[in-house]
Amino acid sequence: MTTEDNIQVLLNKREEARLGGGEKRLDQQHKKGKLTARERIEYLLDEGSFEEYDMFVSHTSSGFGLENQHYLTDGVVTGHGTIDGRVVYVFSQDFTVFGGSLSEAVAKKICKIMDQAMKVGAPVIGINDSGGARIQEGVKSLAGYADIFQRNIMASGVIPQISAVFGPCAGGAVYSPALTDFVLMSNDTSYMFVTGPKVVKTVTGEDIATEDLGGPEVHAKKSGVAHMIADSEEEGLLLIRKLISYLPQNNLEDPPVLECKDPVQRMEDALNYIIPEDPHQPYDVKDVIYSVVDNAEFLEIHRHYAMNIVTGFARFNGRPAGIVANQPNYLAGVLDINASRKAARFVRFCDAFNIPIITFVDVPGFLPGSNQEFNGIIIHGAKLLYAYGEATVPKITITLRKSYGGAHDVMGSKQLRGDVNYAWPSAEIAVMGPQGAIEILEGKNLKNISSEKEKEEYIKRKEEEYRKKFANPYEAARYGYIDDVIEPRNTRFRIIRALQTLATKKDMNPPKKHSNIPL
Ligand code: HXC
Repeated sequence: MTTEDNIQVLLNKREEARLGGGEKRLDQQHKKGKLTARERIEYLLDEGSFEEYDMFVSHTSSGFGLENQHYLTDGVVTGHGTIDGRVVYVFSQDFTVFGGSLSEAVAKKICKIMDQAMKVGAPVIGINDSGGARIQEGVKSLAGYADIFQRNIMASGVIPQISAVFGPCAGGAVYSPALTDFVLMSNDTSYMFVTGPKVVKTVTGEDIATEDLGGPEVHAKKSGVAHMIADSEEEGLLLIRKLISYLPQNNLEDPPVLECKDPVQRMEDALNYIIPEDPHQPYDVKDVIYSVVDNAEFLEIHRHYAMNIVTGFARFNGRPAGIVANQPNYLAGVLDINASRKAARFVRFCDAFNIPIITFVDVPGFLPGSNQEFNGIIIHGAKLLYAYGEATVPKITITLRKSYGGAHDVMGSKQLRGDVNYAWPSAEIAVMGPQGAIEILEGKNLKNISSEKEKEEYIKRKEEEYRKKFANPYEAARYGYIDDVIEPRNTRFRIIRALQTLATKKDMNPPKKHSNIPL
């Protein structure tokens, strides 16, 4: 063969690989409203940056007609490229080849890029669109999944791992995304479940549609499996690019600092008036967040799940930070099981990847009730407590209003190694709210008052006394639990200065094999 022939063979093979399972199946993929595996990579990465590995891999199995069906790439496109010039590794399952199912060869390809990402210290982004284990390959496929799981576990806390689910993700296959740091699902085309509707019907008799069992809404709102949902795949891929912009490449690096044009000393006069005079009146804590972060840009994580706590990424003078904030606008910002789990995982992620944590506190306490107790609020609340106490990154806490009881301790308090703890003048830091406290402290005295009107007046008076004594920031500031009471409009500047000061902070936990967080 001439050199030209040789090159033509290469080009033909590349062309064949790019066709995946063939034009007909690529068309079908589009008809379902989905992008192809390669189109997804194109949207995700900087233009022209993708370098593909293992384009010429094909399965080596036989039986059930497999020996006569060979497709180059064998159902997953893998390689690396850049996002805003920073290296990321990618795998994108190709539904047009055996339904994107996982063969031994597919698993090897995915493991190869995961191994290399670990050596290089770069994030892995997995795009899932697959019918699960390649049925014809049997146990070899199961082994392939386990090989991937083991790598997900080893990479956890070392390099960021992000999963997009843009099609089916069922059976044990769900556990690879579940082991990663962030899961994004696309509306209309994605679903995730351990057992599908047919098995559910057979085993439990329950009739449930695919969408209702494992669609994006279910996982974004009810289960919390999905951290983000996107209306389209294109939007989802842009969200992943945005997310990556806040993250370091690995646990030994700091997150990337960008140039900031938003004035550091920008005063936000509206913040001085944002807390309603009536302590029972809600407000939107996101208004506080948007007004203090750079350019009002906040990437919310778990936006639809446990909305009584808000988590997400933002920048202060160009420096990324993780934000945790109680949301008075939803369930009065109470801490319950889901809010505790959500925030605990977020705090641990930030700590693992050197991202400072800014906490805005307005919490009336833990949600009371048998439902919460029976489902283990003790264990789940402890997770958040543990996460804050274990974290060694810079921790800045600003108490906006209520900070009562155990919830006060949990939410980045001084005693959980909070580095800088500020309070607004509207802060109320106490064992419990005035109403509850007076009910307990004055129970006996109240019994002796027969007139309802007098009772009411007495309660009002006592609550006022209590509020004056405890429901303010100065009692806590008196003991140094609060470092300073700050003017709300100056919050942005105070956070930025604290972050700059803490940039060189070093703190360590005692040596151990690993911690035993209450799971
Ligand atoms: C081999 C598969 C496959 C699989 C789909 N295909 N799933 N091939 N192994 N697991 C093939 C089909 O034969 C078909 O081939 C093509 O992919 C497209 O599939 P369709 O069924 O035509 O597509 P659609 O109607 O969109 O349905 C998609 C689907 C369905 C819902 C995913 O294919 C399906 O139910 N597949 C099986 C799912 C499953 O039970 N997987 C095993 C789960 S257990 P042609 O040649 O016609 O294009 C598991 C264990 C993991 O995954 C354990 C880890 C620990």
